[in-house]
Amino acid sequence: MSGQTEEMLKTLLARRKPGFALEAPFYTDEGIFDEDMKHIFGQHWIYVGVEPDVAEPGDAMVVNIGKSSVIITRDDDDAIRAFHNVCRHRGARMIPEGKTMIGNIVCPYHSWTYGIDGALKFAEHMGEDFDPKCRGLKKVAVRSVAGLIFICLAENPPEDIEDMARVMEPYLAPHDLKNTRVAFESDLIEKGNWKLTLENNRECYHCGPNHPELTIPLFAYGFGYAPGTLDEESQRDAQRYAELATTCHARWEEEGLPSREVEHLDDRITGFRTERLPIDRSGESQTMDTKAACRVPLGDLKDKAIGGLSFWTQPNSWHHFMGDHIVTFAVFPLDAGTTLVRTKWLVHKDAVEGVDYDLQRLTEVWRATNQQDADLVEISQQGATDPAFEAGPYSPYTEGLVEKFAAWYIGRMKAALA
Ligand code: FES
Ligand SMILES: [Fe+2]
Repeated sequence: MSGQTEEMLKTLLARRKPGFALEAPFYTDEGIFDEDMKHIFGQHWIYVGVEPDVAEPGDAMVVNIGKSSVIITRDDDDAIRAFHNVCRHRGARMIPEGKTMIGNIVCPYHSWTYGIDGALKFAEHMGEDFDPKCRGLKKVAVRSVAGLIFICLAENPPEDIEDMARVMEPYLAPHDLKNTRVAFESDLIEKGNWKLTLENNRECYHCGPNHPELTIPLFAYGFGYAPGTLDEESQRDAQRYAELATTCHARWEEEGLPSREVEHLDDRITGFRTERLPIDRSGESQTMDTKAACRVPLGDLKDKAIGGLSFWTQPNSWHHFMGDHIVTFAVFPLDAGTTLVRTKWLVHKDAVEGVDYDLQRLTEVWRATNQQDADLVEISQQGATDPAFEAGPYSPYTEGLVEKFAAWYIGRMKAALA
C-alpha cells in the first residue's frame, strides 16, 4: 500500500462516525479497494458455492476472488478440496473460471499434471534432481457448512467458522442442501462498490418502494420500522407480522426446525446472522403467489409452510432456505466500482424441470429483485462519486444491520492495520 493510501485509510477508519454511512473513498478509491481485497477478502471466510456444484468426484469449480483464482474439487474419497489455480512450474492459470470435470489437472502450458488431490504426478524433462513431492498445488482452506462451501485464502484462517458451523448446521440440515442440484445460476454485474451491495442487502427500508415482487412473500416490517409512524393499514400489517413470527417460531421449533434469531454480525471475525422468517399468505415460498415452486420437498420436510430460513454472512453472502427450494447469493468485488453477484437456485436433486417445477416461476422473484437491487447499488455509487456526497445517518429502526456491517468492516480493517 502506498504511504498516501495508508495515511488516508487510517484517518478515515479513525474518524468513522457510528450510525452514519461510510465516507466516499471507502466506495470509490482503488487504493482502499486493494486493501479490502487483501484484509477482508484475503483473510476471512468467503462463501463461494454449494456442494452440488461439485457433486461427483472429479467435478471442479473455479472461482476468482480479486487476483486469486481457486479450484474447488471433490476427490475420490468424497472430500471437498481447494487449491490455488496457479501452476507450480511457471505459474500459469490452469483452468478458466466456471465449472468443469477433471480426471487430473493438466496445465495447458507445459503439461505438468496434478491429481485431484493436488499432488504433482507428471512433469517431463525436469531431470533427476527434480522432486515432484515439493511441487504439489498450494492448498486453500475450505469448509462446508451444511453444503455451503466457504474458502479462506489466509495462511491461518479464522477458527471461529467452527462456532458458526455449530450454530448453523441444525438450522440448515432439515433443508438437506447436499441432496439438491443447481436449477439455475446467474451472474449479475452491479456498477457499485461491494460494500454498497452488502449494505443494500442488510436493510429492507428500500423494499416497499422498490421490490413489488419480493414484498409479496416477504414482510418488509420483519426488518424493523419506526413505531408510531405507520398509517393504519401498515400498522395492522406490522402487527400481523409480529404475531405470525411468534406463533410460527413456536410451531416450527416444536417441529424440530430451529427458527429464532441468532445474530453475531459485528461481534466476531466470522460474522453471521440467521432467522426463519414467516412468509405471507400461504407461507410456503418466495414466489409470486407464495406457494411452493417445486413439487418435490427438500429433505424430509413435510410441512410446506415453513417460511424462509435466512442466513447472512460477513463479508460476502446471504441465503434463503425454503421448504421447496434454496436461493444463495455470493458477492465478488471486481474493482472499486464494480461487483459480481452470483445467485444459485437449488431444488431437490430428483426434481425434473417442466414436470416438478417451472424455471420461470422458480426464479422470477429473485431475478426481478436482483436487477432492482443492482439499479439501487448503481445510483448509490453515482452518489458516492459526486463531490457533493456527504455520509448521511442510518435509520435506528430499519438500518441496524447496515450499521453492524459497517462496524464489522471498520473493526476488521482497524485490526488489520494496527
Ligand atoms: S506453467 Fe504450468 S506446466 Fe509450465
Ligand atoms: Fe433489495
